[in-house]
Amino acid sequence: MYHDDYHEIYDLVMRNRSKDYAAEAAHVAALIRARAPEAASLLDVCCGTGLHLRHFAEHFPEPAGLDGSAAMLSLARARVPHAPTWVSDIREMKVDARFDAVVCLFAISHLETPEELADVIGRFADHLAPGGVIVVEPWLAPEEFTPGYVSADLVEDGGRTVTRLSHSVLDGGRADRMRMRVHYAVADPAAGLRSGEETTRMSLFRPEHYADAFARAGCAAEHVTGGPFAGGLWIARRTG
Ligand SMILES: C[S@@+](CC[C@H](N)C(=O)[O-])C[C@H]1O[C@@H](n2cnc3c(N)ncnc32)[C@H](O)[C@@H]1O
Repeated sequence: MYHDDYHEIYDLVMRNRSKDYAAEAAHVAALIRARAPEAASLLDVCCGTGLHLRHFAEHFPEPAGLDGSAAMLSLARARVPHAPTWVSDIREMKVDARFDAVVCLFAISHLETPEELADVIGRFADHLAPGGVIVVEPWLAPEEFTPGYVSADLVEDGGRTVTRLSHSVLDGGRADRMRMRVHYAVADPAAGLRSGEETTRMSLFRPEHYADAFARAGCAAEHVTGGPFAGGLWIARRTG
């Protein structure tokens, strides 16, 4: 989970990457529509600062968001004021509403074990309206991860300059878990310099872990490739 002073940096950096949130949301919306043409409500789980949610709101009249970080969610609320939102850990999520689509993008790797993944997918399924669709973006599998991977961002924004550097390694010698350290710095003409750091751990689940999690949740799932998501997407519907 991120510290509360990191949400603005995350938002600024992600907005300035080549990641095309509008295209990603349109792709997910088309996949949902192909399976549930009348879908109206969509819950974006781990919606962060709402960078997908604002585009989902163009495709679905009833968008909603959930995230474990109140700070991240505050930016999502500002972006999509008409969307109901909930601060909740997904491992405990229990919302008094059902949705035609439950999506989780760029976030599922925060779960720690395949058992936790299966439990959370079960919670997603519990929040589906009849005929509803789950969409989950997988993260890297162990063999797709490059230990020592480095990324760098430099963003200029309204007079401020922000840098973000990351370095990722396997966590504690485990082959199925990575640790990413992030250092960031902000240079503001009036406020001067400030810097901070974050450490995030992520699981490197295998395709069979996702398939098993959906099966345990009573869902028929398929892994769909193509489109803007390098690792494709898992799409599932509850059976029975
Ligand atoms: C990398 S960000 C992705 C945000 C957004 N989906 C996007 O694509 O920009 C991961 C998000 O997952 C949230 N998150 C991580 N672990 C969580 C958990 N256990 N419960 C709820 N939210 C969690 C973080 O607060 C963060 O907003």
